[in-house]
Amino acid sequence: MAKIILNPLDSLGQINRNIYGHFSEHLGRCIYQGLYVGPDSAVENVRGMRTAAVEALKKIRIPVLRWPGGCFADEYHWEDGIGPQSGRRRMVNTHWGGVVEDNSFGTHEFLDLCEMLGCEPYITANVGSGTIRELSEWVEYINSPSDSSTAQRRWANGRRDPWSVKYWGIGNESWGCGGNMRAEYYADVYRRYQTYCRQYTDVRPYKIACGPSDSNYEWMQTLMERAARYMDGISLHYYTVCNTWDNKSRATQFSTSEYYQTLKKALFMDELVTRHDAIMTRYDPEKRIGLVVDEWGTWHAVEPGTNPGFLYQQNTMRDALVASLTLDIFNRHCDRVTMANIAQTVNVLQAVILTEGDQIVLTPTYHVFDLYKEHQDARQIAAYVETDTIGEEEWRVPRISASASEKDGAITVTVSNLSESEPQDVTLEGFRAAAAEGRILTGKMDAFNDFGASPLGVQAMEGIALCDGKATFTLPPCSVAAVTLK
Ligand code: AHR
Repeated sequence: MAKIILNPLDSLGQINRNIYGHFSEHLGRCIYQGLYVGPDSAVENVRGMRTAAVEALKKIRIPVLRWPGGCFADEYHWEDGIGPQSGRRRMVNTHWGGVVEDNSFGTHEFLDLCEMLGCEPYITANVGSGTIRELSEWVEYINSPSDSSTAQRRWANGRRDPWSVKYWGIGNESWGCGGNMRAEYYADVYRRYQTYCRQYTDVRPYKIACGPSDSNYEWMQTLMERAARYMDGISLHYYTVCNTWDNKSRATQFSTSEYYQTLKKALFMDELVTRHDAIMTRYDPEKRIGLVVDEWGTWHAVEPGTNPGFLYQQNTMRDALVASLTLDIFNRHCDRVTMANIAQTVNVLQAVILTEGDQIVLTPTYHVFDLYKEHQDARQIAAYVETDTIGEEEWRVPRISASASEKDGAITVTVSNLSESEPQDVTLEGFRAAAAEGRILTGKMDAFNDFGASPLGVQAMEGIALCDGKATFTLPPCSVAAVTLK
């Protein structure tokens, strides 16, 4: 029997809804054919946005969407993507497959999409190959309520009111594809570029510096030491790669050992957040600055026969568990993690939606976001997990992962059974519940949803017993559940 001991009196504060954010890059079929099919498409759409994808994302209450990259952001020149679509500049997407990008999806289309989704836009500005003037005029174009010449260009393109975009990334992976800068140099570049990300409305820009990848603690140290006072957030990127970057595991065909290896590597996020937080706390003990994990998720080998530059991969229950344990980690660090964006929304890496023509598939990872949505803006509460470990040698992981929150008198406990083969009895203690209900996602570790057959979905949980206010239930192997206690 595993125990989860809740303590509603012990809280780190509110779980920022933006932890449940997403990322969409001009990469492969994420934007084109994925989210955006164009207004003339036979696929059902509203102003070019794929209706089924918009509806699905609204259902999981997508809070924030990051765009246009990724590596693409540092080659993106926003003026190429405004005005009549037929006249827009065609460029080569050098990072992703060398395909021609016709810029038909630009600033207006992205912000229209965010309005349809009811989510906040998060725009990453070009620092690697863009000028300060480009950045500053992009902010003015989007946010200025004035009649400046730049704002008037927006009017001419059909939008009178400013959008008041709050979240601005100042470059992406500036240590790599965003310019190969040294931390010391980027810290100065960041200070300079962010100066011109001006406030035009009552919405103050929330400026996000490019932070480290993985365990590059030196980068975090240097940025915090030199530029902390100029930032509201700093990013962290971490991808879960099973085996090695040169020999990644297949998305749907993998061994039990690779399964546990993947979960173990995903759990490394806890150490990363803890150690980066510790460095940040030296310079920001009040935790004013948010850690923005704006790229995370599994990175597997591409599906055979697909363009290697498009990063298209299927998504199994293994991915679902990576999502659940990662979101548990973010919930447990909600005093520092203010936003996270899974990479990437549609058809790329750990996607929540896959598309093929007019068909869409909701992946197991999508269903995890559905199960976790009650955590958005809820008050995190401590959930101590008493469990043993499972798996092989260096890839041993806790059998159970969990996190909890409270909203409107109800407690949501999300709990996963990481064992691929054994069910597990679980008791929830520490809160006298009068009623308990739950929803669950479960399947074999390599089960997945595909076009024409989607066996995996969220179901009502049977057999939750209440005794002396404690809830007890059995989790099947490889499962993710959300239990509500009242
Ligand atoms: O998400 C795919 C790529 O991974 C992004 O473009 C880049 O920022 C990261 O290296």
